[in-house]
Amino acid sequence: MSQGIVLLLSGPNLNLLGEREPAVYGTETLADHVHAATAAAHRHGLLLEHVQSQHEGDLINSVHAARDRVAALIVNAAALSHGSWSLHDALAAFDGVIVELHLSNPAAREPFRHTSVIAPVADGSIAGFGGLGYELAVEAVSRILAARQRPAPEKERP
Ligand code: DQA
Repeated sequence: MSQGIVLLLSGPNLNLLGEREPAVYGTETLADHVHAATAAAHRHGLLLEHVQSQHEGDLINSVHAARDRVAALIVNAAALSHGSWSLHDALAAFDGVIVELHLSNPAAREPFRHTSVIAPVADGSIAGFGGLGYELAVEAVSRILAARQRPAPEKERP
């Protein structure tokens, strides 16, 4: 498996960023966020790929295709975050790093957004920092991958 590929997954309606509820999600487009994430990945020596879909099955197929091929997933599953157990199960079968990402802070919004079915299978979640979250997610991936590649320190003798 390549250590260098990061797959960013964007769920339903994120193609409308920039026009969709700008007071909540900001005025930057998804292309802007992908551009920022790509630039951050290059700075860290990583290659970023991106898939956006309105369809749960497409995202699940992308996770399956990522197995044994990509080192990390950054997942903004949009509203699927709050109910797609199928996507949860697909992610549970992925061995690499998983970072959950949201532009807004779902915990501070409507109650149905307070539950994430992605969080239990992610290494961690980044939420509420708007577009900055995309760069933070790449930074997190880079550090986690680097830590995993470092040999474990030798056990100290008692
Ligand atoms: C979102 C938060 C979700 O609750 C919502 O359904 C989205 C976007 C975010 O990035 O803040 O579509 O994932």
